[in-house]
Amino acid sequence: MKKLFKNTTCLLAAAMLSTSGIQAQGTPRDMDRFIDDLMKKMTVEEKIGQLNLPVTGEIVTGQAKSSGVANQIVQSRVGGLFGLKGVDRIRELQQLAVEKSRLGIPLIFGLDVIHGYETVFPIPLGLSCTWDLEAIEQSARIAATEASADGIAWTFSPMVDISRDPRWGRVSEGNGEDPFLGGAIAQAMVRGYQGSNPDQQLTRNDQIMACVKHYALYGAAEAGRDYNTVDMSRQRMFNEYLYPYQAAVDAGVGSVMASFNEVDGVPATANRWLMTDLLRGQWGFQGFVVTDYTGIAEMVQHGIGDLQTVSARALNAGIDMDMVSDGFASTLKKSLDEGKVSMEAIDQACRRMLEAKYKLGLFDDPYKYCDTKRPARDIFNKEHRATARRIAASSFVLLKNQPMQGKAEPILPLKKQGTVAVIGPLGNTRSNMPGTWSVAARLDAYPSLYEGLKEMLAGKAEVLWAKGSNLMSDASYEERATMFGRSLNRDQRTDQQLLDEALATAVRADVIIAALGESSEMSGESSSRSELGIPDTQRALLEALLATGKPVVLTLFTGRPLTLCWEQEHVPAILNVWFGGSEAAYAIGDVLFGDVNPSGKLTMSFPKNVGQIPIYYAHKNTGRPLAEGHWFEKFRSNYLDVDNEPLYPFGYGLSYTTFQYSDVSLSSQTLTADSSITATVTLTNNGQRDGAEVVQLYIHDLVGSSTRPVRELRGFQKVFLKAGESRQITFQITPDLLRYYNYELQHVAEPGDFDVMIGGNSQQLKSARFTLK
Ligand code: NOJ
Repeated sequence: MKKLFKNTTCLLAAAMLSTSGIQAQGTPRDMDRFIDDLMKKMTVEEKIGQLNLPVTGEIVTGQAKSSGVANQIVQSRVGGLFGLKGVDRIRELQQLAVEKSRLGIPLIFGLDVIHGYETVFPIPLGLSCTWDLEAIEQSARIAATEASADGIAWTFSPMVDISRDPRWGRVSEGNGEDPFLGGAIAQAMVRGYQGSNPDQQLTRNDQIMACVKHYALYGAAEAGRDYNTVDMSRQRMFNEYLYPYQAAVDAGVGSVMASFNEVDGVPATANRWLMTDLLRGQWGFQGFVVTDYTGIAEMVQHGIGDLQTVSARALNAGIDMDMVSDGFASTLKKSLDEGKVSMEAIDQACRRMLEAKYKLGLFDDPYKYCDTKRPARDIFNKEHRATARRIAASSFVLLKNQPMQGKAEPILPLKKQGTVAVIGPLGNTRSNMPGTWSVAARLDAYPSLYEGLKEMLAGKAEVLWAKGSNLMSDASYEERATMFGRSLNRDQRTDQQLLDEALATAVRADVIIAALGESSEMSGESSSRSELGIPDTQRALLEALLATGKPVVLTLFTGRPLTLCWEQEHVPAILNVWFGGSEAAYAIGDVLFGDVNPSGKLTMSFPKNVGQIPIYYAHKNTGRPLAEGHWFEKFRSNYLDVDNEPLYPFGYGLSYTTFQYSDVSLSSQTLTADSSITATVTLTNNGQRDGAEVVQLYIHDLVGSSTRPVRELRGFQKVFLKAGESRQITFQITPDLLRYYNYELQHVAEPGDFDVMIGGNSQQLKSARFTLK
């Protein structure tokens, strides 16, 4: 971040500095001087105001001046606002800050721009299944372009919480179970939002500040229940959970959001070790830290003090900005007077907030993100939509694809002919297409699957539709699962009536696309589930559709891994489409009808049942492992009623073509401290279609001073091969790649034997051995 403000010349800065005879040069020292000067003029109350981030409701243009926050802005009691979008509204409030507050300090406007803006990309879990860092960066770039055109300077993304528990609804917002992949994605997202050239981040008005969240360990909530307690060893933190946050810091992320959970018995928001010693001391983070929504006030419920106490604890831990609690604004002055916080601590937080605004160029031009010409040009345009469609199609994961009995060809891809029936409660819903956390989505503007397919197949095939069932039999559950304008319009007919209608439609069809699974609000925040099957009425519908004897393709909408043993056994083809965003319907059509060959691979294991959770590929061996492929053995680590394997492993996903891997060859069997080994496989597309494969490299440290996982992802490449084409794929293995945090938390590569494994998923791998000297 240090180089961000290289080319920034601040008008306001220049004006202020000229009165003190200093020229603004745009270097870090200039920034320091500018902020020193500004802070000399600020009262304590104004400094505390910079640390305050209230949420606005929707404010109608022209009403900003009389809105609730207007007075606070004029009184300099607000550092930024979130929840607001629209150039005119944002300009109005910015104008109040700049023209009517005493020192004219601009506000920072933030929003949850998580997987796109009006052009919506797949939910992050889906995006991660592309394993395509360029595509992921591009999705964040487009999100930044659109959000910044609408007044937004700051996004609460990327969310990089590792999770191994699909009961937790927020797995939909993250990148799955693996820290190595999660770290790479975190960096791609930061580059996409802030700019890919580290020297020029945030210099343009289509680049916005990122906020990595939720620091830290939020994805390890006990029992997958959102906001629940987290407790884990330091070794596990460092080896399995912290890396993606650190990777974002290394990529220059401008801000960090504290998580709701506790870490080592102290809420993250008050945890000085986390916020200061580790984040700033060890990782060298230079930006600012914001709490999560009411994170400070919630510490009263956590039971560590009243609002004044917890606000002081948060500031002393290293929090700079208070989102919504009003704890800083209402108590810090009192705590200062009583000696519970120091002036230095308030100054430090205030300085960090001013630095962020300086880096964003807001002192130079407070209206940098308020160009009224941009929205029409930059938001939801043709080019963005085409990219979203392409990326959505590459996020889908083909879980199964078999022929119907007596046929040779697998069901997919379908032919664009005859009669196609789209059946299921997810088949004709516009508002559920974008997926959770799409706050700028135009919920009625994107086609439903049925509408999209009808458009795509016009003149080639007839497309029919029937709902077939409600989301689930329990109406109140359905209400909880379809909030915030995402209703599935619960049908008042009986289950039997809905089914009869569906079967009448099904008999007219040559093929059935069963659009089933979760509604988009069954995952995301505060959407934990204790059962992970396709809900009851939908399963009954699926059984009835299969009983017609027609080919059925389960087109699965979900924000998390589901338990699908029955479906895997009985349904011939399953395409997991997550929630694919604004262009999802077309992208699904592209894949179902073969214009795009699916290439997504799972980034989270799919369990066989809930009892197996947490289940993840990088598990430890234990002292009593069960041999792979075996099931029950007494006095081994296993279950009486299910084996240890997931239904679909991490890294798994099929294609319309097939890929063959040669054995792994190594350039040497020995690795020394400053050398590297090249691992090579030959990959062949030995099927009939062109396609892309995600080649994955795993490493197993056979003997460590601490126990080591059976394998860990340490490299991947997405490779496109024409039918019949072969290519040598190489990976460089350096000692750095072998490091882990040992018992003393030293980051070491320990001499000894290692297996390197390469393949198309975490279970089907070719392996070779080398020794680190
Ligand atoms: C709470 C969520 O945990 C966080 O991810 C989000 O950014 C904030 N609310 C602001 O909406």
